[in-house]
Amino acid sequence: MFMSLPYSLLLLFSSILFFTDFPGLVVSADVTLSSIEIFTTHEWLRATPAVYFRCKGDNKTNLPDVKKTNVSYTFKGEESWQPLTNFSGKKCKRCGFYEEDKILYDDVFDEWELCPSDFTAPDGRYIYFKENEFNASFLCLDCLNITGVSVSAPPAKNQDHSKREMHVAVIVLLTILGSAILMLVTLVVYKYWQKRKREQDQARFMKLFEDGDDIEDELGLGTII
Ligand SMILES: *[C@@H]1O[C@H](CO)[C@@H](O)[C@H](O)[C@H]1NC(C)=O
Ligand SMILES: *[C@@H]1O[C@H](CO)[C@@H](O)[C@H](O)[C@H]1NC(C)=O
Ligand SMILES: *[C@@H]1O[C@H](CO)[C@@H](O)[C@H](O)[C@H]1NC(C)=O
Ligand SMILES: *[C@@H]1O[C@H](CO)[C@@H](O)[C@H](O)[C@H]1NC(C)=O
Ligand SMILES: *[C@@H]1O[C@H](CO)[C@@H](O)[C@H](O)[C@H]1NC(C)=O
Repeated sequence: MFMSLPYSLLLLFSSILFFTDFPGLVVSADVTLSSIEIFTTHEWLRATPAVYFRCKGDNKTNLPDVKKTNVSYTFKGEESWQPLTNFSGKKCKRCGFYEEDKILYDDVFDEWELCPSDFTAPDGRYIYFKENEFNASFLCLDCLNITGVSVSAPPAKNQDHSKREMHVAVIVLLTILGSAILMLVTLVVYKYWQKRKREQDQARFMKLFEDGDDIEDELGLGTII
């Protein structure tokens, strides 16, 4: 029992670490386009530009509404082509706005590193402005939770909390149980030792008494003689 107690505690602690460390990594944060205004087009032959957004490794997201320069288009975030992309960790993505070119390579408005840490409180907004090209604002509320070290999704947090509380309760219970058994064993050993000592003392006393009798007898004999 006493040998296995430290091992069970160790097991509990490692399982606590396991369960509290992992939910944070599974979080996925969607990035939506809140507004965009283009200041130029790169295509001379086309009447209206075909603007799209793409992050490396993702698919194209066409922006069919963006047709005119110097007009600010705002979006609700629920359009059919939203979200633009998503993050599954703190890692940045290389993204850009492009304009489709039928003949040559697509034209680039700009390409840059989009990072979860770019999005700022309170509403997780991030504005990217490129002179003479475009001004775009993005929203990613969940990015605040990715970058905030201790902040995680509320349901997972609550689960962790109750899980941890349960573990702590089990540890406290085991500790109390262990202490109680230790005390009991100590008491039993002490009682046994006390009993043994009393018996030994008694035996010694009896022996002393008997010895004393003998001496008295001898003395008595001596006085008679
Ligand atoms: C891109 O789109 C194609 C089909 O349109 C789909 O099969 C593929 O899974 C998509 N890739 C990503 C990364 O979304
Ligand atoms: C749009 O605004 C830019 C300056 O911000 C100007 O250079 C350009 O001519 C404007 N384009 C149109 C079509 O008004
Ligand atoms: C993240 O985005 C990719 C492609 O952009 C998509 O296939 C995937 O389902 C998205 N994940 C979530 C959790 O939205
Ligand atoms: C870019 O757009 C945002 C929001 O639409 C706006 O607040 C900001 O003033 C704009 N910046 C420039 C340089 O146009
Ligand atoms: C992100 O964290 C905030 C608290 O900082 C919380 O209110 C919000 O619900 C969280 N969002 C998600 C999707 O986890």
